[in-house]
Amino acid sequence: MDLTSSETEILQGEYGPVKQKAMEILVALGEIFEADKLIEISMAQISGVSYKTIGDAGIRWLEFMSSERVVVTTTLNPAGMDLRLWKQMGVSEKFASKQLDIIEYYIRLGAKPICSCAPYLSDHSPKLREHIAWSESSAVCYANSVLGARTNREGGPSALASAIIGKTANYGYHLDENRKPTLKIDVDVQLHEESDFGAIGSYVGEIVSNGVPYFKGIKNPNADGLKSLAAALAASGGVAMYHVEGTTPEASSADVRGLEELSFTSNELTSTYEKLSTLKSGKIDVVAIGCPHASLNEMKKVAEFLKGKKVDKNTKLWVFTAVGTKLMAERFGYLGTILKAGGEVYTDCCMVVAPVEEFGFKTMAVNSAKAAVYGPSTSKVDVIFGTTGRCLEIAVKGHA
Ligand code: F3S
Repeated sequence: MDLTSSETEILQGEYGPVKQKAMEILVALGEIFEADKLIEISMAQISGVSYKTIGDAGIRWLEFMSSERVVVTTTLNPAGMDLRLWKQMGVSEKFASKQLDIIEYYIRLGAKPICSCAPYLSDHSPKLREHIAWSESSAVCYANSVLGARTNREGGPSALASAIIGKTANYGYHLDENRKPTLKIDVDVQLHEESDFGAIGSYVGEIVSNGVPYFKGIKNPNADGLKSLAAALAASGGVAMYHVEGTTPEASSADVRGLEELSFTSNELTSTYEKLSTLKSGKIDVVAIGCPHASLNEMKKVAEFLKGKKVDKNTKLWVFTAVGTKLMAERFGYLGTILKAGGEVYTDCCMVVAPVEEFGFKTMAVNSAKAAVYGPSTSKVDVIFGTTGRCLEIAVKGHA
C-alpha cells in the first residue's frame, strides 16, 4: 500500500505511540485486503462500548488510546445501560461503574457520547459517496444501501483507529466494483410491517452471506422498513449493502443481468416468523422495541397503540431509542403516553448489549429479526418474533 510521507512518519512513531498503533491497524487491514492507499473519512461510529461486550481488556485498550483525540465527528454504538436511568433498569452498581468509565474514556478521546446504532436518524447522516468508518453492522448496511455512503463493516478498534487518523484503507465497499449486486430476489408478497422487512432480511441474509442482494418488487418501502431490512441482513448474513429497485440510490445503475434469482413469497414470510420464534406461547417477561433504535415514527406508533391501555404489571415494555429521538418524542407527547401506559423508554443502550442476565428475564417478545437472532444466543432468552402490534398486545396481556 502506498503511504504518504506523513502517514509513514505516523507509522514510524514520530507522532507518539497511540497514533502509531492506530496507523498500524489501518495499514495491516489495508495490506490484508490489498488496498492501494488510505482515503479520508468524514465521520466514524465506534462499536465496543458496552462493558458486557468489551470487558476489562477493552477498558485497558481505551485507557491507552485515550491520550489522543479523534479528528473527525465520532459517535458511539449502544452501551450496556441507559447512562442516566440505569438504576431504574436494574443494572448493578458494579456494571454501571465500569460502563461509566468506558464512556469517560470515549469522551476524553473526543467522541460524542451519543450511543446509538442508528446515528443516521440524528444529525449524523452521511451523504451520497461520502467515505466513513462505521462499525455497527446494521448502520453500515443502511449507510451503504440507503444513503449511498461508503463504509466497510469496521471492528471497534479499526473504527477508533480511523477516527484518530481521519482515514481508512481503500478497499471493500469504498470501491465501485464491490457494490454491485450478486443475487436478485423477486419479492412476491406485500411487506407492510417493519418486522416483515426483518423477516425477509433474515431469510435472504442466510442465503446471500456477505454478498449484495438486489430486491425487486418491494413497493414504496419507508425508512423504518429499510432500517429493519439492513439490520436483519447484517445479522443473519454478513451483508453490508443491498439494493431495492426504484428506491435505493445505486439500484438504477446496478447491472442485474445474468444474476442468480431467488423468490420470496408469503410462504417464506410466514416460515421465517415461525423459525425466528423459539417460543410459541406463554408468559412474556419483557417486550423490547427499538432494534435498531426506534425512530420518531416508531415511537408514535407505540404511543398510538398504548393510548388508554396499560402494560401488564408482570411484563416490562422497554423501548430503546437515541437521546435526540426521545427528546422529540417528549415534545410530541409520545413519550408521556408510553410512560403513562407503564412502558419504559431507554436511551444509549439496547436489550442485546445490556446485561440481561442481571435482570432475570427468561422470555422476550421482539419486533426485530436481529433481536430475535441475538436474543437466544447473547442474552439466553426465548423469543417470540412478531409485528409491532402483536408485541404490544403481548405487553398489555402479559402473555402470548
Ligand atoms: Fe442496535 Fe442493539 Fe439492535 S445495537 S441494532 S438495538 S442489537
